[in-house]
Amino acid sequence: MKGIVLAGGSGTRLHPITMAVSKQLCPIYDKPMIYFPLAIQMLAGIREILIISTPHDLPQFKRLLGTGTELGLAFSYAEQPQPNGLAEAFIIGRDFVGDESVCLILGDNIFHGHGLATVLQREVQQLNGCALFGYRVKDARRYGVAELSADGRLVGIEEKPKDPKSDLAITGLYMFDNEVVDVAAKLAPSPRGELEITDVNNHYVRRGRAKLVTLGRGTAWLDTGTHDSLMEASQFVQVLEHRTGIQIACLEEIAWRMGYIDDDQLATVGKRLAKSGYGEYILSLLQKH
Ligand code: DAU
Repeated sequence: MKGIVLAGGSGTRLHPITMAVSKQLCPIYDKPMIYFPLAIQMLAGIREILIISTPHDLPQFKRLLGTGTELGLAFSYAEQPQPNGLAEAFIIGRDFVGDESVCLILGDNIFHGHGLATVLQREVQQLNGCALFGYRVKDARRYGVAELSADGRLVGIEEKPKDPKSDLAITGLYMFDNEVVDVAAKLAPSPRGELEITDVNNHYVRRGRAKLVTLGRGTAWLDTGTHDSLMEASQFVQVLEHRTGIQIACLEEIAWRMGYIDDDQLATVGKRLAKSGYGEYILSLLQKH
C-alpha cells in the first residue's frame, strides 16, 4: 500500500500564524505537525509516501523531510496549486499510486492510542474496497458524519451536516483499493466547489465496499483547526511525554522499531542531532536496548 499525506490548504482559521508558516509545519509541542500523520502511515507499515502541498510550502516540507532514506522510507512530493478538495490527492497522485492500494491521511490529523498500529496493520491486510475510521465527537457538524442503519451498518456519509445523524465523525484517515484513482477522476465538484472525499467514500458505501472502523475511547483524535485546539494538542503530547519519558511520533524511533532502519542507522541520526533533546532521546533508545 502507498501513502499520501495531504498537507496543502490555507489553514485560514489559524491566521496570522499560517501566513508565516504552513499549518502542517506548526509545532505540536516538540515536533512539526506533519510528523504525526507520517507516524501513522509508518505504523501501518507504509514506506512509500507522497507529500502533497502548495507550490509555496512544498519546498519547506522537502527541506524538513528529504528523501526519507534515513528513515528507511521513500518520500515523493507533488504540488496542489489550489485547494480543490481532498479527493484531488488521487488525481495528483495517480502515477505515484500506480496499481496499488493507497492510504490518505490529512496532514493536520493527529491520532494517538493504544493498539492503533495493530488496528491499522490489520486494516491494510484485510482491505476490501475502503476502510474509514470513525470517532465519536461531541459536535459532529464540522466533519463528515456516518449514518448508520438500525443494525449498525454504514449506510451513508454526510459532509458537515446541520443535523448530524450520528455522533460518529469520519476522520481524515482513509484506505482505498486502487479503484479510488478512477473514482476520483470521475468526480464533479460539490456545491462548495471541491472534489469531496465524502463523495468518494459514498461511492464505496453505495457498492457495499466500505468498512467503518470505530476508533474507541482508548484512542485520541485531536483537532488542530483553531488556536485553542492547536495549543491543547501540544499540551496533550507534552503531558504524555513528560509522564512516560516516551516520545509520540518520533519518526526515527518508529522506523527503528518497525525494522525500517537498524541500530547503526539510528545511532547515525541520533549522533547528528545529539545537541538537541531529540537526538539525546534517540541515542537513549539504543542504550536502553
Ligand atoms: O479532519 C477530518 C475531516 O476532514 C473529515 O471529517 C471531513 O469529511 C473532510 O471533508 C475534512 O474536513 P475539513 O473541514 O477538515 O477539511 P478542510 O477543507 O479543512 O481540509 C482538511 C485539511 O486538508 C486542511 O489541513 C487543509 C488540507 N487541504 C484541504 C483541501 C480542501 C488540502 O491540502 N487540500 C485541499 O484541497
